[in-house]
Amino acid sequence: MRMTEGERTMKTYLVTGGAGFIGSNFIQYMFRKYDRQIRIINVDALTYAGNLENLKDVENRDNYTFVKADICDKEAIEQIFADNPIDCVVHFAAESHVDRSIRNPEVFVQTNVLGTAVMLNCARAAWELEDGSFAQGKKFLHVSTDEVYGSLEEDGGYFYETTPYAPHSPYSASKASSDLLVKAYMDTYHFPANITNCSNNYGPYQFPEKLIPLMINNALHGKKLPVYGDGKNVRDWLYVDDHAKAIDLVIEKGKPGETYNVGGHNEKQNIEIVTVIIETLLEMLPEEDPRRKQVSKDLITYVEDRKGHDRRYAIAPDKIKAEIGWEPETMFKDGIRQTIAWYFAHEDWMENVTSGDYQKYYEEMYNGK
Ligand code: NAD
Ligand code: TYD
Repeated sequence: MRMTEGERTMKTYLVTGGAGFIGSNFIQYMFRKYDRQIRIINVDALTYAGNLENLKDVENRDNYTFVKADICDKEAIEQIFADNPIDCVVHFAAESHVDRSIRNPEVFVQTNVLGTAVMLNCARAAWELEDGSFAQGKKFLHVSTDEVYGSLEEDGGYFYETTPYAPHSPYSASKASSDLLVKAYMDTYHFPANITNCSNNYGPYQFPEKLIPLMINNALHGKKLPVYGDGKNVRDWLYVDDHAKAIDLVIEKGKPGETYNVGGHNEKQNIEIVTVIIETLLEMLPEEDPRRKQVSKDLITYVEDRKGHDRRYAIAPDKIKAEIGWEPETMFKDGIRQTIAWYFAHEDWMENVTSGDYQKYYEEMYNGK
């Protein structure tokens, strides 16, 4: 693939997992912010969680390229680096759902650990100079989760960048392993990287296996709302655009070798989230909409708890505020309305992603088979 002169001087991002929830929001955010000043290559294997419909608004741009490849495929990733002057890798690609990791851990090790190793090796091979230093302006941004820190007590404490790793689920263990590989590259080779550990995201394009879109979708169809355990587990919810902004700022301003925690200052029990969703749906659905009749708190059903269910996650985003100037901006009451409005306007999207394999997953997961 030959470059034009203009393409050579544009900052070039290799985004992995850009067809998923956060990756697709990030790509759209970046084009809104930088328009023609950047080029993005999106590499994604299009697993059940990857959907090119998420990128309809950007797919015809001449500064956007999609490559279908598995991040574990070393030759394919090497080829992308050989063909393109990559300045920055933004590594989202992962298996991301805790419940799936409990049922089938192997693929989490494969993609999250081995896939990250391939990405690190290929970036290092492409960027390292003869004297072992790295060319100016290169950066590997590893997108990770606060779940690597384990679980907090109900009544206090926060995750800081210095909190020891104590993952519990196969998902968080695989993400912790990938973080440690990135840290090893930073320590051993002075590889120019940052890690961001972010709390739970919500917003448009989130796959309905995760709490918020699952509850919105079920409520609109008059289906039960399965709340695990006593419903009092706490998560710290962040609107996805705020996460995209944090990643962009860490790429630009983060000191190489540093980790930044990203969080919403927005702790909520799961049952509160489900209740807010029902109340907001009832506020937003017009009187004459037939789906209104089905939406009710009576749909809430307490089900068997998740195995090893972490009780509470909460981030103190002090370091990213002090060093980078980032803070969460979207209030939950606004973010949840925007999210619900998006799902109202994208019924086709929801129908497409919930056909086929999703039905099978849902049956197996929630009927306890
Ligand atoms: P997602 O499951 O919606 O998307 C993952 C994407 O990665 C999909 O497009 C999928 O096709 C792709 N992918 C999976 N395996 C691949 C492989 N082997 N090769 C290439 N592509 C592959 O996930 P998400 O919620 O958007 O999460 C993105 C990243 O952010 C993950 O690394 C996750 O650990 C992290 N994270 C997520 C949250 C959250 O609340 N969702 C919070 C903090 C951090
Ligand atoms: P989830 O969206 O899967 O994110 P994570 O497990 O990575 O935090 O779940 C968020 C919380 O909601 C978690 O405490 C588990 C709970 N939950 C339910 O109660 N019912 C559900 O059907 C799902 C998917 C999650």
